[in-house]
Amino acid sequence: MKIKITKKTILKFFGILLLILVLSVLILFAVVIGRTFTYKENTELEQWQNTTTIYPGLSLEQKKQLLENFKVAVQIPTVSFSESEQNISALQEFDLLLRRVFPKIFSSSLVQHEMVGNYSHLLTVSGSEPDLEPYMLLAHIDVVPADEADGWDAPPFSAQELNGFIYGRGTIDNKQSVMGILQALEYLLERGYTPRRSFYIGLGHDEEISGPQGAVIIVKLLKSRGVKLLYVLDEGLTIVDGVVDGLIGPAALIGVSEKGKATVKLSASTPPGHSSMPPRESSIGILASAVTRLEKNRLPNLFGHGPERATFEHLAHKFGWPYRMVMSNLWLFSSLLSGVLEGQPDTNAFVRTTTAVTMFNSGVKINVMPAYAEAFVDFRIHYSQTLHEEMPVLESDISSYDEDTFGYQIIKKTVHDIFPQVTVSPGICVGNTDSRHYTELSPDIYRFAPSWYKPGDSARFHGVNERISIQNYEEIVLFYFQLMQNSDIRNLPAPRI
Ligand SMILES: *[C@@H]1O[C@H](CO)[C@@H](O)[C@H](O)[C@H]1NC(C)=O
Ligand SMILES: *[C@@H]1O[C@H](CO)[C@@H](O)[C@H](O)[C@H]1NC(C)=O
Ligand SMILES: *[C@@H]1O[C@H](CO)[C@@H](O)[C@H](O)[C@H]1NC(C)=O
Ligand SMILES: [Zn+2]
Repeated sequence: MKIKITKKTILKFFGILLLILVLSVLILFAVVIGRTFTYKENTELEQWQNTTTIYPGLSLEQKKQLLENFKVAVQIPTVSFSESEQNISALQEFDLLLRRVFPKIFSSSLVQHEMVGNYSHLLTVSGSEPDLEPYMLLAHIDVVPADEADGWDAPPFSAQELNGFIYGRGTIDNKQSVMGILQALEYLLERGYTPRRSFYIGLGHDEEISGPQGAVIIVKLLKSRGVKLLYVLDEGLTIVDGVVDGLIGPAALIGVSEKGKATVKLSASTPPGHSSMPPRESSIGILASAVTRLEKNRLPNLFGHGPERATFEHLAHKFGWPYRMVMSNLWLFSSLLSGVLEGQPDTNAFVRTTTAVTMFNSGVKINVMPAYAEAFVDFRIHYSQTLHEEMPVLESDISSYDEDTFGYQIIKKTVHDIFPQVTVSPGICVGNTDSRHYTELSPDIYRFAPSWYKPGDSARFHGVNERISIQNYEEIVLFYFQLMQNSDIRNLPAPRI
């Protein structure tokens, strides 16, 4: 049989092809637009049990008092200088401060207080219903060093007030949580509150040097007592406002994971000699080219393989045009978005294992060929990757952010109670916190404190002019005040259908 190909059949064929193409484009367009405008936030839970017996408000007198307490806390220079050096006298002074300004906590029969590793604090608050699983709040007392000469507008341990802000090291990392949690508990106890659900408060004194005497020992102690925790809330992410391109309005990002970490040392050795007769390659040259190759060949972009994708999906409806269309259709635009994200260092950190060459040492004299060169590389590991077994990596798990996950939903509800205008979404912490030591006590570890994070604020963490607004500190006290009461809810309500 012969198939006759005429001009007409060819035209007909292309006509049909064109029609299919046009229809496909139209359907695609309709789906993209449809998803953009029907995208809705996680199903809201309804009919919460009301456990708020004490209204979260502050009198003028209380506002004055909590600010005064906070300022004194910032003024005590609880600096962790290095792995082996901390300001011990400041840590002792801080302990005395807590006992002085929170008399109810330290005298209540509901609260058991223990010192751990000499300067960390563990508080156990006994609830009236012991069969409810307890939760735990974490914060840390120590701070990184600060030098006024770096350009501070007010001395870093002055807690000076400028335009409604308190300036000082530790105001957002992390004395706002230390003092906020305790101040909230003090006010609740003052007003006769007895929690139903027991909880713990852990205040580490060495978080900035990875917590060997604080968090690590607290966890050991709790483990020896057979404690299991319903959820853990530590510092980490914040309320972002105006710092994510295209995102309209503020969003509270609840850290459900933190990146792992691995430090790698590279070294090169060559025979030493006089620099008047150099070999073709020096140890510095060999190591420099290795380091250059590492920087040139970034590890792969893994957007979509970790929880960073969920962040955008949760926030999609809060983005302006055309971002909203992109976020609502990540099935189509995932590679476009991942390309944009890797363009900026702060968003690039979410999508891949980052490679940072942080130290490079070699050479002793101008006219001596160096026998040895070494460099250190600080890798922050993306969730979906693990390194080779011989490498010490701090693994990270993802905590659940489902509708039936108690901790996440209680934190979300509390954000909505105190900040009705703020959207809530899961996020990833790119730094490390004490909470990573708690994975054996609870599957659900969250990293969030309700500090507002606005344009320019990223440089204040561990940087110059760390500060918090007075209003924000009051909000933080109210947040923990409400969180403690909300955590008394026995069970989550069923999701709305
Ligand atoms: C919860 O109960 C308290 C009194 O126990 C009441 O003052 C408050 O208005 C209630 N809150 C809601 C949201 O119903
Ligand atoms: C350590 O803290 C004390 C306050 O307790 C302070 O007077 C002292 O200057 C601090 N030392 C250093 C080296 O910062
Ligand atoms: C606690 O203090 C004691 C006595 O000053 C000291 O011997 C011990 O090493 C300290 N422990 C820690 C964990 O710092
Ligand atoms: Zn911190």
